Amino acid sequence: MKKLNLLLMLALLIIIGVACKSSKTESENPAEGKTLVLYYSQTGATKAVAEEIQQLLGCDIDSIIAVKPYDGDFDQTIARFMQESKDSVKAELKPLNVNLDDYDTIFLGFPIWFGTYALPMASFISDNSLNGKTIVTFATFGSGGIEKATLDAAVALPAADVKEGYGVRNARVAKAPAEIKRFLIENNYIDGEIEALPEFSEPTDVSEETAEIFHAACDNYQFPLGNPVSVSSRHTPEGIEYEFGVKSTSQDGSESNSIIYVIAPENESPEFTRVVRE
Ligand SMILES: Cc1cc2nc3c(=O)[nH]c(=O)nc-3n(C[C@H](O)[C@H](O)[C@H](O)COP(=O)(O)O)c2cc1C
Repeated sequence: MKKLNLLLMLALLIIIGVACKSSKTESENPAEGKTLVLYYSQTGATKAVAEEIQQLLGCDIDSIIAVKPYDGDFDQTIARFMQESKDSVKAELKPLNVNLDDYDTIFLGFPIWFGTYALPMASFISDNSLNGKTIVTFATFGSGGIEKATLDAAVALPAADVKEGYGVRNARVAKAPAEIKRFLIENNYIDGEIEALPEFSEPTDVSEETAEIFHAACDNYQFPLGNPVSVSSRHTPEGIEYEFGVKSTSQDGSESNSIIYVIAPENESPEFTRVVRE
């Protein structure tokens, strides 16, 4: 009798287990088939994010390497970028270690250079059709740019399904692992439980207090980021997150708008997490 009860209990546990599993897979994983993480990184920030994504996905990884590496400092890279863009020089790349035909989904990572993917990634994208594949972008940047880079990739790869992935400022790469895990779970690339974040509040005018938070987060950045005109917020496990509507005026007098996200953890200085330019 005891044995029968034990068997019944075991069967019940298995049924509960299957039921739990099937309720988790209600939303389909958009990364169909075999997955590759493929990245270009000049100074290591994108490499760190790529390795974290690869570990969480448990998939293959490879990197894009320029035959003539971009190994100068920031100013030298800017100067080389300017010259190569002017001369329409395409970065020549070393062959990959993997065969792209083996993969259905590619997490494609790059640093943002002048608002879009870095030149070696531009060469990779223009040389490979990636037809029929799902491409999930990821990027590191000084302030932002994954949105435009993803749109540019979608235009350059019309026969691929290009989705916007995870982006992080190079100054915050140490914070990336938890954010990457959240991104992968929220978008069903991996299984897991994560508390959903609340919606942002309705935007209001900027108060003296929220302006102070904005300036504490943004004023030490190497380029001016503008002035906040509206703000909304929400509570996250990391602290209060603010979404600022920002106006800036460039040197030629033209106005532009952007959205700047700021995180203010308790007892820590606020930091901006990304700039989304309109
Ligand atoms: C030539 C060049 C242009 C850049 N342009 C931008 C830019 O437009 N926006 C931005 O937020 N960061 C820009 N950056 C900063 C890089 O995106 C950032 O440092 C990135 O994290 C570097 O990644 P890596 O370490 O993987 O090379 C630029 C850097 C370089 C070298």
